[in-house]
Amino acid sequence: MRWLILALALAACGPEASPDEELDGGAIYLANCESCHGYDGRGSDTGADLYWAAEGMTVEEVADVVVLGEGSMRAVDLDDAEAEAVAAFLLDVLVRR
Ligand code: HEC
Repeated sequence: MRWLILALALAACGPEASPDEELDGGAIYLANCESCHGYDGRGSDTGADLYWAAEGMTVEEVADVVVLGEGSMRAVDLDDAEAEAVAAFLLDVLVRR
C-alpha cells in the first residue's frame, strides 16, 4: 500500500521533486500548517488539535494526511520529502516533546 501512495505522490509532484535531507520541517509547518493547527499544534477555529489527533500516528501516516488530505482537511501542496519533514517536526517537536 505504501508504494502505491508514494507512486501517486511522486506522480503528482513531477520529476522536480527530489528528496532533501536538509528540509526544515519547522519552517514548512509555519508556512503550511500553522494557520489552521496553531503555532504549537493545539489547533484553531479551522484546524484540529493535533495533540490528540497525531499522537498515535507515524511519520508516514502524518505525511499521507498532508499529501492526500483527510476528512475535512484538504491536501497540502507539498512534495513527499517536504511532507515527511513536516510530519517528523510535528511528531518530534510539537506532540512528543
Ligand atoms: C486549511 C486548514 C488546515 C491546514 C492548512 C492544515 N490542516 Fe491539518 N487538519 C485540518 C482539519 C480541519 C483537520 C481535521 C480533519 C478531519 O478529521 O476531518 C486536520 C487534521 C489533521 C491531522 C489529523 C488527521 C487524522 O487522521 O485525524 C493531521 C496529522 C494534520 N491535520 C496535519 C497537518 C499538517 C502537518 C499540516 C501542514 C502541512 C496541516 N495539517 C495543514 C485543517 C488544516
